[in-house]
Amino acid sequence: MYSQAKVIAGGLAHIPVVIAVFYFILTTFNKRALKFVEETKTKKPEAKAVEPKKATASKTEAPKTEAPKTEAPKVVKKKHADVPVNIYRPKTPYEGTVIENYSLLKEGAIGRVNHITFDLKDSDPFLNYVEGQSIGIMPAGEDANGKPHKLRLYSIASTRHGDNFNGNTVSLCVRQLQYEKDGETINGVCSTYLCDIKPGDKVKITGPVGKEMLLPDEEDANIVMLATGTGIAPMRAYLRRMFEPTEKEKNNWNFKGKAWLFMGAPKSANLLYEEDLQRYLTNNPDNFKYTKAISREQQNTKGGRMYIQDRVLESANELFNMIEDEKTHIYLCGLKGMEPGIDEAMTKAAEEKGLNWSELRPQLKKAGRWHVETY
Ligand code: FAD
Ligand code: A2P
Repeated sequence: MYSQAKVIAGGLAHIPVVIAVFYFILTTFNKRALKFVEETKTKKPEAKAVEPKKATASKTEAPKTEAPKTEAPKVVKKKHADVPVNIYRPKTPYEGTVIENYSLLKEGAIGRVNHITFDLKDSDPFLNYVEGQSIGIMPAGEDANGKPHKLRLYSIASTRHGDNFNGNTVSLCVRQLQYEKDGETINGVCSTYLCDIKPGDKVKITGPVGKEMLLPDEEDANIVMLATGTGIAPMRAYLRRMFEPTEKEKNNWNFKGKAWLFMGAPKSANLLYEEDLQRYLTNNPDNFKYTKAISREQQNTKGGRMYIQDRVLESANELFNMIEDEKTHIYLCGLKGMEPGIDEAMTKAAEEKGLNWSELRPQLKKAGRWHVETY
């Protein structure tokens, strides 16, 4: 009896010890878990550069390497996580050498628009980029306060393989900003600097930046492009990726969808990359459609200047048939001022199909199918 009571009492006496040990294990585990969460939160994502895509085996082919014996931990990758950004920043820009700088305009055109190519081959880390991104340019000289000029962004007009297909250049399409103020012609700082630079000159480059205007991976996506002026820059890169034979050999991306470019320019002589676009049309009649709005040579139904939004309205039915297909992406680039006009045209065009554009547009945006870069 006595010994039974002693055993029970002894057992009971151990309960606080067991609780203490259990509490110690629990707090230690919690502290570690918290530390891990904090570390994960504060760890900065590393800027990771994307190598120009190498030709890979066809999708149906079995992988050549043996499957690992133990299952690798699952890594949840953020969308476009492998797209390079900010390899070069304003404090330490890359000094690229100008390879060429030539006018894209024909006789009788308005203003000045140049195609400019920079050599990137000596950049270390290598300044790579993908179609739809932009780079920053830091013009030489100082502003009115004696400070170095701030960088300006420019949409990249070349594919990741560059105009020479060697994967070590980047090209821009730049309009010189010019306006009148108090009877004086003012020239934009950076756009004038860029239009004036010569082959061999060194230019401070930052970036690349931007994930808004990336092309989808799907080869059967449809790509609708609405561009005014230099807004053609990213579209030129997309169209080269889709239709330029040497580029296609390199990129292993066999575009099978429909590409439709709406292009706005003041005069025919201002149409940019026209010969290339005509060649793509001739060689890809089933996959490429090209609609021009030449504002100062053509009139809309109201007798006003023909803008791309007027062309959108003319094609409302066909365009919205495409938009209703979830494989269709729409890209808008160029003058900020065109946005309200495009919205108005899309509203009317949607109405004709019994659709509500103010509801549809956010849905397209959420689905990553509505891409806008205006300036
Ligand atoms: P600045 O010397 O900076 O002058 C611009 C300033 O002049 C304006 O801020 C405004 O204050 C004033 N101004 C402008 N117009 C008038 C006017 N009519 N009346 C009175 N004041 C005025 N440009 C291209 O050419 N090609 C591209 O591909 C391209 N891509 C871009 C991509 C992005 C993402 C962004 C944001 C911009 C892009 N731009 C592009 C525009 C470019 O970044 C510059 O803004 C443009 O070249 C003008 O820069 P600037 O230094 O020549 O002009
Ligand atoms: P316009 O200047 O005749 O009014 P660029 O950059 O080479 O000047 O080309 C821009 C094109 O976009 C021009 O044809 C210009 O017409 C046109 N444009 C100007 N404002 C708008 C607008 N609000 N919406 C659509 N297009 C516009």
